[in-house]
Formats: sequence, structure tokens, C-alpha cells
Amino acid sequence: PRKIIIDTDPGQDDAIAILLALASPELEVLGLTAVAGNVPLALTERNARRICELAGRSDLAVHAGAARPLSRKLVTAEAVHGRTGLDGPDLPEPVMPLRAAHAADFIVETLRREEPGAVTLCTLGPLTNVALAFAKAPEIVPRVREIVTMGGGAFEGGNTTPVAEFNILVDPHAAKAVLGAAGAAGVPVTMMPLDVTHKALTRADRIAAIRDLRTPVGDAVVALLEFFERFDEAKYGTDGGPLHDPCVIAWLLAPGIFGGGLVNVEIETGSELTMGQTVVDWWGVTTRPRNVRFIREIDADAFFSLLTERIGRLPRE
Ligand code: BDR
Ligand code: CA
Repeated sequence: PRKIIIDTDPGQDDAIAILLALASPELEVLGLTAVAGNVPLALTERNARRICELAGRSDLAVHAGAARPLSRKLVTAEAVHGRTGLDGPDLPEPVMPLRAAHAADFIVETLRREEPGAVTLCTLGPLTNVALAFAKAPEIVPRVREIVTMGGGAFEGGNTTPVAEFNILVDPHAAKAVLGAAGAAGVPVTMMPLDVTHKALTRADRIAAIRDLRTPVGDAVVALLEFFERFDEAKYGTDGGPLHDPCVIAWLLAPGIFGGGLVNVEIETGSELTMGQTVVDWWGVTTRPRNVRFIREIDADAFFSLLTERIGRLPRE
């Protein structure tokens, strides 16, 4: 199986992404690293452990990382995710331990230990932990197989400012540092921006298919999705909510259901007006290097069938 580390700020859509990964035999989750984002770190690390326990994986390593972005003040998203970050289902307090090491140290140690080119970094939140790891041990960067990251947007605009997506806006300096380091080391970066995630809408019939699983994990997923979709439905009038973070995991399982292009992407960190914008050279109007596979299309029906089938496998025996 393909070895991955999931860096995350759960978040209902993070939770679904983690469950999808844990249900998939093609993937070996080496550990989860929590970062401050949707809610503060004390909640995201706890939510990560609650999800592991829901999946029957209390053996997993969960590490807490950065409590705040590299240089900006933390912005959170309780309006979307609720006070706990995981509002919706009634999940018990986690009992599995939080590991002692800082998330950035876990990332460094894991990349040093595993074969070069073996570990994929899946990032579902602000990129602070990954930026810290790369700054601490730059020699690990070329050992990364691929970075698959949820963040950004081009034609779709922003969801937190008119031009910035939440994960990038929370820590644009980290995003810029990670793209820079990956580009210099020749590490492939696949980006799941709002352009694609806004096409992965939950919809009543898709949630009904998960409810029909009639399993405890399926019921928890339904409760997560029903809470999560309310925000976007009210704000944008969409039929369902966008499953941003699960697109990252689905890319590893079924890249054929996605479409995009290899283009230059740069992160704005200078202007307060456009802070955190992903400047995407879709039409190749510059000679800047093509540093990001920028995804824009998804076969949403295939994505939801995959998700539903995999959720039906949990908890793992
Ligand atoms: C991203 O921000 C968070 O609210 C979601 O979990 C997702 O990672 C979408 O902009
Ligand atoms: Ca997230």
C-alpha cells in the first residue's frame, strides 16, 4: 500500500477524508498530524483522535502540531464547522493517547526513516506543520513522493475573502514556503482547489446512499454531512455541501475521476487585499515553472460511489 501522512484540522470534511483513507487497503496511514485551522489545535487534535476511534483505529499515531500560523493571527471557521469543529454526530471523548512528539518532528522523523519517495503528504488544513518540518530539515523534502493538498481556487474565487480559500488564507506564508520547497526539490504537488471541490456536492440522494449502509460509521458520516452542508446551502444556495478534503484522498485511490492541468501557481503574501490568493497561470501566460497539478474537474457520481462503498467497510475489524 501507498504510505501517507494526513495533516489535518478536523473539520467534518477532514473527518470524512480520514475515514476514506482508513477504509482503503490501497493506503497505509502512517500517522495523523493536527494543525490549528477550522478550530483551535486543542480541538483539532482531539477530533482527529475521535475519528480514529470511530474507525476502530485507536492504534494510530496522532500528533499535535502548530497552534498558530507562521506569522499571521489564527482565523477559525466555527460558522462552518460548529463550536467543536465536528458538530453533528454525538461522538464520545477520545481515550486513545495523543503522541508526545510535535507534528513537525513526526513528519521529519517519518521521512528520514522511510525509503526516499515512499511517503505522500496529504494536507487538509493550513500548511503550517509541513512548512515547519521542511524548515527544520530541508533534506527531507526530496524524499517526499507527492504532496496532495486541499487549498486554493482560481476561476471559482475564494470562500474566505473574495480571492482566498480558507486553508491558504489562514497561513499563506506556510503555503508559499511549501510550494517553494517542493518546486526546488522537484516534488510533485497536486492541488484540490475550490474549482473542483465545489463540484463534489453532497446532495440528498448521495447522503441517502450512505444512510442506507445502516452501519454506526455510516450514521456518523450522515450526521457530519447533514451538519456540514447547511452552511453552504444557506450561503450559496447549492444543493448540498462541498466535500473539499476527501478529494485529496480520492485522488490517491482513483486519479482517473479527476481532470486538471500542470500549471504555475504562486501564493500572494504581500497585499492585504488579496492575501492568500492562489495566482494560477492556467493559460500559460508566464514562463514561470509548472509547479502544481491544478485539479478542476471531478466525476462526482464516481467519487460518491467510491466514498459510500469505502465507508461501508468501517469500522475495520
Ligand atoms: C477547507 O477549509 C476548511 O474549512 C475545510 O475543512 C477545507 O479543508 C475548504 O476551504
Ligand atoms: Ca480541512
